[in-house]
Amino acid sequence: MCQLSNVCKRSSYQVIINDFGKPNEVLEGVYVEVPNKLSSNQILLKVLMSPINPSDINMIEGTYHIKPSLPAVAGNEGVGEILEVGGAVQDHQVGERVIYSVADRSQCQLGAGTWRQFSIVNETNIIKVPSNISLIGAATLAVNPCTAYRMLKDFVKLKTDDVIIQNGSNSAVGQYIIQLCKYWGIKTINIIRGRQEDEKEQLVGHLQNLGADIILTEEDRKKGALKDILKSLPEKPKLALNCVGGDSSAHLVNSLRQKGVIVTYGGMSKRPVMIPTGAAIFKQITAHGYWNTEWMKDYKNSPERMEMITELCDYLDKGIIKTPKAELFYIKDFKTAVSESLKEFKTSKKVLVMDETLKC
Ligand SMILES: NC(=O)c1ccc[n+]([C@@H]2O[C@H](COP(=O)([O-])OP(=O)(O)OC[C@H]3O[C@@H](n4cnc5c(N)ncnc54)[C@H](OP(=O)(O)O)[C@@H]3O)[C@@H](O)[C@H]2O)c1
Repeated sequence: MCQLSNVCKRSSYQVIINDFGKPNEVLEGVYVEVPNKLSSNQILLKVLMSPINPSDINMIEGTYHIKPSLPAVAGNEGVGEILEVGGAVQDHQVGERVIYSVADRSQCQLGAGTWRQFSIVNETNIIKVPSNISLIGAATLAVNPCTAYRMLKDFVKLKTDDVIIQNGSNSAVGQYIIQLCKYWGIKTINIIRGRQEDEKEQLVGHLQNLGADIILTEEDRKKGALKDILKSLPEKPKLALNCVGGDSSAHLVNSLRQKGVIVTYGGMSKRPVMIPTGAAIFKQITAHGYWNTEWMKDYKNSPERMEMITELCDYLDKGIIKTPKAELFYIKDFKTAVSESLKEFKTSKKVLVMDETLKC
């Protein structure tokens, strides 16, 4: 095997953000040479897979809360395999499968980001994951399932048969919300966007298979279907999870019970979150935001984080939760992958694979 300490040179293909703007106009694929010496606490990873999340796109567009200094490597989560460890590393070994612990751009020696073939990271910035979970499961573990998990745990105390309501329910996060709720005995009302009848039928079937209790479209909601659903429930939802904003968020709020809570984690409609005045005053609704990046920073390698990761890996292993459908693209085809990820009504998460042989 080629050791870093030898003269052997390794080059890494990576996707660089050159400027903020339209993704395929500002992204460039380049080769860089991987430094051939690790410092004592560093680890060399062969990156295996990294998803394209909406926040990656927003970061490239320059509309995300975090703007990396440019040029920077795109991508913010992924899975890799340890190829070599620095002299003082004690808790990790060659061959381990790991995910990035934080998207801490300052500590990645090669620049930043996860859309790359090799990565040099500080030992505290990775978490070991069991090799029995799928690569896609591991590559997408740090953001979406954790976001679903925390939003269901941290804002209201949910008990069996409590009801939650969400929009964007077919999003990756939404699908994890459905599955975790099913397993924990919580009922879900799931709002999706309308689409062609056959596509809608397929999507509804898919969400029902995951465990969704009630599914309706935004269009059904506008015609009053949500009011009828709420009337049929013994108690209204305690918690609303919003990744759309605008009118959709106002209706989530109106569906809540007295002192209900809405948590916003995304703004897919690009419209402001709406809290109707009457609900704010008379129902005493509380509104929160959840940002996984901040949570990961605050709880980086804490027992809470490790417990959650272990629990989610166990759920993935046992099939209690399944990863949303994924479509794999070789990293050198990143432009196609990014274009596909920008399409509306897409049916799968786009994931970059760094080694073409992993695509099958
Ligand atoms: N705050 C956090 O920490 C955090 C963590 C993870 C994710 N997020 C956010 O959560 C959201 C979902 O992420 P994801 O990775 O699960 O995304 P995803 O799988 O790509 O799903 C995107 C979702 O957004 C919907 N959507 C797209 N355009 C829309 C529009 N114009 N109006 C209304 N809905 C629209 C899609 O519905 P269709 O199928 O109908 O197109 C789909 O349900 C994103 O906003 C993401 O940034 C936030």
